[in-house]
Amino acid sequence: MINPTVQQLLAPYKGILAADESTKTIEKRLMAYGLQSTEEIKQAYRKMLFTTPDIEKYINGIILYKDSLNFIPLLNQKGIIAGIKVDEGLESFNDFEEQVTKGLDGLSERLDEYKNLGARFTKWRAVIKISDLYPSDAFLEENLSRMAKYAKLVQEKEMTPIVEPEILLDGNHTTTRCENITTKTLKKLFELLNREGVDLSNLLLKTSMVLPGKDSGVTVMPLEVSNTTLRTLKNSIPSNLPGIVFLSGGQTPDQAINNLNEIVKLNLNKSFGPWDISFSYSRALQNDALATWIGKEENTADAQDIFGKRLQMVSKARMGEL
Ligand code: 13P
Repeated sequence: MINPTVQQLLAPYKGILAADESTKTIEKRLMAYGLQSTEEIKQAYRKMLFTTPDIEKYINGIILYKDSLNFIPLLNQKGIIAGIKVDEGLESFNDFEEQVTKGLDGLSERLDEYKNLGARFTKWRAVIKISDLYPSDAFLEENLSRMAKYAKLVQEKEMTPIVEPEILLDGNHTTTRCENITTKTLKKLFELLNREGVDLSNLLLKTSMVLPGKDSGVTVMPLEVSNTTLRTLKNSIPSNLPGIVFLSGGQTPDQAINNLNEIVKLNLNKSFGPWDISFSYSRALQNDALATWIGKEENTADAQDIFGKRLQMVSKARMGEL
C-alpha cells in the first residue's frame, strides 16, 4: 500500500514546489536582482509565492528550508503539505575534487523538531558532476549510502523521504554519457536503499532528466529527451517505486515544462514503468516571478500572476496535456 503522504504528493494535476533554497543559494538568486538576502526580504519573497491565488490547485507540497518553517500553518490551511530540506550542503570528499552531501550528524533530533512543527516529508540532495574522470565509484558509494541512511531514518520517524541525486547539467558531456552516469547512479542508489531496508512505498525519487551538458552546444527536442529519460529510468528503477518527480536543473522554464509534458505523455500507457511522474521544480517555476517581483510590494500582483501562469502550465504538463 502506498503511503498516504506519497499518494497526496502524487495527486493528478498537482506537484511539488521546491522553495528550499539554502542561505547561499537564495542569496545568489536575490543578488542577481540587486536584492540583499535579509530575513525580511526572504520572508516577503516566499510570502509572495505562497499566497499566490489558487496555488493549492496546482501545488500540493512545498519543500521549505529551515528559515521559513513559519509558513507551515499557512500552507496547511491551503491543504498543502510542508516538506523540509534536511541535508546540510556539501563537503569535500577525501580531499578530492568531488563533494559529498553532509547532514547525518544530529539529523534524528532535527527530524523530531521538524515533525513537531508539522513537516511531513523531507528532502536530501546529492550533487553528481559529470566530467571525463568523475563521478568516481568511491564517491558514488559514499554519497549515496549517506542518502540511503537519511531515507531510513526519516521513515523511522514516520515521515516521507525524497531522495534527490541531481546529475548536474554543467559540463560538455554527451547525452549518452549522461544516460550512463544516471543509470549507474540510480542503480547504486536503489541497491543501497534496499541494503538499508528502506520501504519504497514511502519514498519519492527526485531526479534529473537525461540531457547533454549545457556547454556541449547540443540542443535536444522534447521527444528525444523523453525517450532517453524514460529508457534510463526503466533500466534503473524498481517498478514498486510509486513516484518520480523531476527537478528543473537549470533548464529554461519552457524546456523544463515541455520536456515534462513529453515524458508524461510517452509513458501514459506505462510502457516504460508503472510509476507516477510529476515535478518538484524550483527555478523553472520561480525565475520569472522573481524577475517581476524584484523586492517591490507593488509588483506582487504581477509576479503572482506570472507565477500562477507557470503553475497552470506545469500542472497540465504533469498530466501530458499541454
Ligand atoms: P531546480 O528545479 O531549480 O533544479 O531545483 C530543484 C531542487 O530542489 C534542487 O535541489
